[in-house]
Amino acid sequence: MPGPEVVKSAGEMQARAKEFLKAGKSLGFVPTMGALHAGHTSLIERARSENNIVVVSIYVNPTQFGPGEDFERYPRTFEADRLICAKAGVDVIFAPETLYTPDARTWVQVGGLDEPLCGMSRPGHFRGVATVVAKLLSIVRPDRAYFGRKDAQQLLIVATLVRDLNLGCQIVPCETVREADGLAMSSRNRYLSPKLRKQALAIPRALENCRNQVVKGERDAMKLLGEIAEILVQQPDLELDYVAAVDAHTLEDLKTLEGDILVAIAAKVGATRLIDNLHIEGLK
Ligand code: PAJ
Repeated sequence: MPGPEVVKSAGEMQARAKEFLKAGKSLGFVPTMGALHAGHTSLIERARSENNIVVVSIYVNPTQFGPGEDFERYPRTFEADRLICAKAGVDVIFAPETLYTPDARTWVQVGGLDEPLCGMSRPGHFRGVATVVAKLLSIVRPDRAYFGRKDAQQLLIVATLVRDLNLGCQIVPCETVREADGLAMSSRNRYLSPKLRKQALAIPRALENCRNQVVKGERDAMKLLGEIAEILVQQPDLELDYVAAVDAHTLEDLKTLEGDILVAIAAKVGATRLIDNLHIEGLK
C-alpha cells in the first residue's frame, strides 16, 4: 500500500489542490496539529467516506499558543501520525515547516465569539486559530472540512469565518470521541500521570451527571453549574478555569437551559489544561 503523499510547502499544496479540482475530485480536509489519536481518526474516516480525496494537515500553529503555554513541548510524532494516516487511507499529508512569513500582517478575528469561555484565559488564541484555519482553507480549497465538537468554541468560530469570508466550503461537525473511561481524547492527555488522569475523569463524570439532570427536566443553569463545580472541587490537583452554560450559537450565558445549548468546562489538571463540553440541541 503506497503511503500518503507528503507535501511540505503551501505553494506545492495549492498546486496539488488545483490538480484535484481540475480532475473533478471532491476534496475533504482535516486540519490537525498532529499527535493523532482516535478523535482525529474519526474525522479522517468521515472525510474518507464523503470525498474522493482526503487531505490531513499537520502543523503546530505557533500563533494560537500564548506565552507560557505548551508550544515547545507540544507532542510532535510525525512518523506515528504518518502511519495512522496511511491506515486511514489519507491521500495527502500537508505538513508545512511554517505558514507565516516574518513580515505577515494579516489576522482574522471573529468578533465577540472569541471573548468568552477559552477566550478569557487564552487571549489571542482564537485569533491564531481563525487566522491559520483561514490560511489552510485558502491553500487546500476543500469541499468539506471536518472539525470536532470537543473544541466547540473553535468549531463555531470556524463556521462563522467561513460564512463571513465566503470561503465556500462546508464545515462538518464531528462528535467527541472518548476513551473507554469517558475522558475526551486529546493530544494533551499524554501529559497526565495516572494519578492526575484519575482526577481528570471528574470532568466527563460531572458532564454526564449534568446530562442526566437535564434529561430529568432540570433547566436552572445555576443549579446545574453548582453541581458540576461541587464534583470538580473535590479533586485536589484540578483547578477550574470555567464552567458555563451558554447558547450554542452566540455563546451567551444562559439562566435557563433552552434551545441549542453547551455546558462547557475548562480546567487545569496538574499543569495540563483540558476542555470538554456537553452539547444538546432543541431543549424545551
Ligand atoms: P487538534 O487539537 O489537533 O485537533 C484537530 C481536530 O480534531 C479539531 O477539529 C478537534 O476538534 C478534533 N478533535 C480533537 N480531539 C477530538 C475528540 N476527542 N473527538 C473528536 N474530535 C476531536 O484543533 C486543532 O488541532 C487546531 O486548533 C487546528 C484546528 C488544527 C488549527 O491549528
